[in-house]
Amino acid sequence: MTFKSFHPPVRTLMGPGPSDVNPRVLAAMSRPTIGHLDPVFVDMMDEMKGLLQYAFQTRNALTLPVSAPGSAGMETCFVNLVQPGDTVVVCANGVFGGRMKENVERCGATPVMVEDEWGKPVDPQKLEDALKAHPQASTVAFVHAETSTGACSDVKTLTDIAHRHGCLVIVDSVTGLGGVELRVDDWGVDAIYSGSQKCLSCTPGLSPVSFNEAAVERIKSRKHKVQSWFLDLSLVMGYWGGGTKRAYHHTAPINALYALHESLVVLQEEGLENAWARHRAQHEALKAGLDTMGLNMIVAPEHRLPQLNAVKVPAGVDEAAVRKLLLDEFNLEIGAGLGPLAGKVWRIGLMGYGANRKNVLFCLGALETALVAQGADIVPGRAVAAARAVYGA
Ligand SMILES: Cc1ncc(COP(=O)(O)O)c(C=O)c1O
Repeated sequence: MTFKSFHPPVRTLMGPGPSDVNPRVLAAMSRPTIGHLDPVFVDMMDEMKGLLQYAFQTRNALTLPVSAPGSAGMETCFVNLVQPGDTVVVCANGVFGGRMKENVERCGATPVMVEDEWGKPVDPQKLEDALKAHPQASTVAFVHAETSTGACSDVKTLTDIAHRHGCLVIVDSVTGLGGVELRVDDWGVDAIYSGSQKCLSCTPGLSPVSFNEAAVERIKSRKHKVQSWFLDLSLVMGYWGGGTKRAYHHTAPINALYALHESLVVLQEEGLENAWARHRAQHEALKAGLDTMGLNMIVAPEHRLPQLNAVKVPAGVDEAAVRKLLLDEFNLEIGAGLGPLAGKVWRIGLMGYGANRKNVLFCLGALETALVAQGADIVPGRAVAAARAVYGA
């Protein structure tokens, strides 16, 4: 059998990620591959660190992209900061808290779960109670922007509570970074990881991470070797550590790093606060359109992530058929619900480059069509008009 080159369709990605990639980022990726110790590449790595520090709002020296997806960033935080025998309080209000628990267990540590209903933010009082009940805990882990539900948790408040109980925090901001306010230094976050494929609108497969001094001290004072050779930061830093002497650790994903560099340049050009405001504004327009179709969000307004809109599927509507029509006829991807929300919600992403007026209007128009096909009682055109009114058109 003769195989041919793979040519994917051109889709509009409005699910939970990956998001639409900025053409500038794809163009950067196709530039010539050079060696991972080439002095020009090493200069680019130094710039990348500065750009990531800006995106995270931190001065942390230990700030770099892990050469693997968000799950590897998560694992980097856990394997470096948690040791066998430790107790870790994990706040779970969606899929990713569950994945954190897995990480804790695989580090030989004991997770203490603080559970919140899916669609709600992490409850600070429950964290406080758990820490009082488990004074031996050394670490608290939680998700800033829960992609499975669209709920945003209060990083600063949760971090303050953890610190009052002598714990370091590990924060998942895979979907948060670049989309909503995040201030690593001002909020005292000890360790954080993100992903390239959400609000940075880069290709998937890289995970920016950052660790403050307290986290670095913990890593330095470990009694046990980090269980993962690849993710052991003391080894990774031989390559990413700065200065003139860089040693081979692994062959960096050179072209993917060009892509991340470009996406961070784009973010810096726009300005972080402008990017946060743009996500909010696009969400408001989308929401106005959804309202006209009687579609409701599962998250209360004050805890809603603008970049991830979890929308209740109305009674009598086949949620999978709607997604199929959008994909087949509009080349538009939106996400399904996960876990207890499977079949009950759609997840509409407005992330990074994809958080724009064209996508909002396109998605609303396509949804109107799909819902009419399902026999829903809606007036086509009203959703798009409502969103246009928000834009002042
Ligand atoms: C909140 C959150 N954490 C972690 C991950 C894992 O990232 P990845 O799929 O890039 O491994 C995701 C991916 O969607 C996520 O949304």
